[in-house]
Amino acid sequence: MTVEPGRHRRPTSPARRALAVVLGWSAVLIAAPHQNPGPLVHDIALFAHLGSTVAGFGAVLLVDWAGLLWLARRRTLTDVLRTARTAHVPTWAGFAGLLASGLFLGVPADAKAVAVLVIGLNGVWAAALLTALDRHTDPPAVLLARSLAATLVSQLGWWTALVLGFLTSRPR
Ligand code: HEM
Repeated sequence: MTVEPGRHRRPTSPARRALAVVLGWSAVLIAAPHQNPGPLVHDIALFAHLGSTVAGFGAVLLVDWAGLLWLARRRTLTDVLRTARTAHVPTWAGFAGLLASGLFLGVPADAKAVAVLVIGLNGVWAAALLTALDRHTDPPAVLLARSLAATLVSQLGWWTALVLGFLTSRPR
């Protein structure tokens, strides 16, 4: 296989990505209450749910850790942006896996459903910010402030979904 550097597919617009997130999220939440999986399907879905959490949130944590090292002046911004680009596929694969597996697990708590939507839409915004950051060697403060805001929202969303998912799964 020949890999040609510099050749990329035309990127999907943020509006289309946001629409895909809203449609995927809505479809899962509408369909989830109508599923009646047997124990085996439920167990497989739960395993996929946990694996997708590891992939998605793990990739996000790696990027945010690189960002913290940059703040501590132990990484360059170029390093952080490269890490973020590398994490793009596992992050979105994990998010899609969480939606797909959640379909067979049941209805999430309202706050968790909102957190999942926030994670998805904020991820679209973060990807747009990454594209903007790529255009600067010395990014303006406003762009860095927005990136910090997107990072904080992402952390808040993922931790909320994680904690609420854990609480739902505990035996009562
Ligand atoms: C960012 C997205 C999500 C994250 C990080 C997440 C995380 C988690 C975690 C950590 C658990 C606990 C599993 C365990 O301890 O056994 C869980 C359980 C659960 N999740 Fe999610 N989840 C997400 C999205 C969803 C979605 C979209 C749905 C449904 C449409 C969903 C429905 C559930 C349900 C019903 C449980 C309880 C399963 C059970 O105990 O049988 N989750 N989630």
